[in-house]
Amino acid sequence: MAADDTAAIILASESLTKNFGGVLAVNDLSLEVREGEITAIIGPNGSGKTTFFNLIMHLYDATSGQILFGGERRNLLDLPTHEINAQGLARTFQTLRLFPNLTVLENVLVAMSSRVNAGFFSALAKPKSLRRQDKGAEEAALETLSMFGARLISMCNEPASSLSYANRRRLEIARCVASRPKLILLDEPVAGMNPTETRGVIEDIQRIHEKGHTVLLIEHDMKLVEGVAHRVFAFDHGTKIAEGTFREVSTHPAVIEAYLGKRAVRH
Ligand SMILES: Nc1ncnc2c1ncn2[C@@H]1O[C@H](COP(=O)(O)OP(=O)(O)O)[C@@H](O)[C@H]1O
Ligand SMILES: [Mg+2]
Repeated sequence: MAADDTAAIILASESLTKNFGGVLAVNDLSLEVREGEITAIIGPNGSGKTTFFNLIMHLYDATSGQILFGGERRNLLDLPTHEINAQGLARTFQTLRLFPNLTVLENVLVAMSSRVNAGFFSALAKPKSLRRQDKGAEEAALETLSMFGARLISMCNEPASSLSYANRRRLEIARCVASRPKLILLDEPVAGMNPTETRGVIEDIQRIHEKGHTVLLIEHDMKLVEGVAHRVFAFDHGTKIAEGTFREVSTHPAVIEAYLGKRAVRH
């Protein structure tokens, strides 16, 4: 999968640093994410990957540096999280954050309304009236669910808690996609999945990309990265130690060194 260095830069981290009381979780990090690509961040546990996502969404204040987004190069560190969502960024978390008692469809509708109205809690309280109000939204939600084959749409009126683990993680991705973001951030989308489930989610991410979405994902699973990523960044101790194609990065001496003693690079 070739990276395209002529594609527009959708997100640029410039000398980004986050110091947690002496721990440099992110340390002078500069990287660029290109529009239309699937970009992967790899790195051992504790290398600063999730902190980078949390800084992008402004869940933490950065110690220094900037994160520029879109053609206008707005510094996300100047914006509150809801404004960052409204600018066109959506993320999943490493652990599930669904509403287990809402149906699969309602989970997607709530995610859509939180982007459009910032009416997160009112949407939560009244998902049924929300559905009645806006047939267009329901159609869009169903269209998003249909990107995952029959897996989610066949369960659309069942509570999210009734889905298998892999399908709950798919639903999280669907919630991101439904808000039509310019950039989707996925934090370890196949964590805890078996190889068959992992293959299925790889195909889902490729399908989402084919629909025109730009994806930045964090992943431990090298198979997933090899299968989907146009461009890979490797982190260690909060810094970028390698970048390039999967092959270039996975064979880079600094990357092999970073994984040795922590976990072997798996193919
Ligand atoms: N909220 C926090 N407070 C203090 N230290 C944190 C916090 N979040 C992350 N860290 C530290 O920052 C480093 C990077 O963590 P993280 O970004 O979660 O790594 P990764 O996602 O690559 O496994 C770790 O040393 C972690 O303990
Ligand atoms: Mg993490």
